[in-house]
Amino acid sequence: MEYYLITGTNRGIGLELTKQLLQKGVTVIACCRNPEQASELNALLLKGNKERLIIFKLEITNEKDIQALSSFLEDRGIKLNVLVLNAGIAEPAEQIGTITQQQLLDVLNTNTVGPLLVIQALVDHFDSRKAPAKIICISSDLGSISRASDLVFGLSYGVSKAALNMGVKKLSGELLKRGITINAMHPGWVKTDMGGSGAPLTTTQSVTAMLEVIDGLQSKTGLFLNYRGQEVAW
Ligand SMILES: NC(=O)c1ccc[n+]([C@@H]2O[C@H](COP(=O)([O-])OP(=O)(O)OC[C@H]3O[C@@H](n4cnc5c(N)ncnc54)[C@H](OP(=O)(O)O)[C@@H]3O)[C@@H](O)[C@H]2O)c1
Repeated sequence: MEYYLITGTNRGIGLELTKQLLQKGVTVIACCRNPEQASELNALLLKGNKERLIIFKLEITNEKDIQALSSFLEDRGIKLNVLVLNAGIAEPAEQIGTITQQQLLDVLNTNTVGPLLVIQALVDHFDSRKAPAKIICISSDLGSISRASDLVFGLSYGVSKAALNMGVKKLSGELLKRGITINAMHPGWVKTDMGGSGAPLTTTQSVTAMLEVIDGLQSKTGLFLNYRGQEVAW
């Protein structure tokens, strides 16, 4: 049985990842912070996916939730093939004079600290017997320092994704010794609550392309890729 664990699956890119993976016959542990309110996700259980969809509560900034997830995998003896750290937030309308400590901490906690702690907590729950297990950190080209604009707009988001990218690079050697690859992935500019209605890509297009790239990664690790599999400048 092939197991994917995905964070932030109640809407947007995470929900579409869950839908497409279920269609492919994969078993999905779909994490979200409010399972009882995740109506579209719960509806997937009624569409013949009961055996292959596990919905798990994970507020990614909550260490107890992260520990509970690790214990759940341990108790069930589940070994993951792929972990996709997708949950994220953005604070786009930042200007000098309006940025608060709490805003910066919230974005960093959700986009950087949470994913890194999830990786640490789950590191012993991967299956790398037949092929390397894979960790995908959903990043953004807005986290590329070499391509960044000089505008304050999106400051905390850019900082958080650049820091996440650094985490990917820094962890890649140690994880590879354990048979796990880790890569950062930019999903493109996608029509979601975060991306807005003016984005050129649908969730279907972005996720279809990303799953192809993930499938073909083999032992590639420590890279920053876009949804087409091309390298993005750090
Ligand atoms: N859309 C784009 O154009 C674009 C471009 C580049 C990168 N990305 C990245 O792609 C990923 C998904 O974005 P999206 O466009 O699908 O955004 P979205 O539609 O706003 O969905 C964000 C998801 O993250 C979850 N989430 C937020 N904070 C969380 C927390 N503290 N704990 C657990 N879950 C949390 C949300 O859950 P709730 O419903 O509970 O809030 C939701 O499921 C993000 O990492 C984002 O930075 C998106």
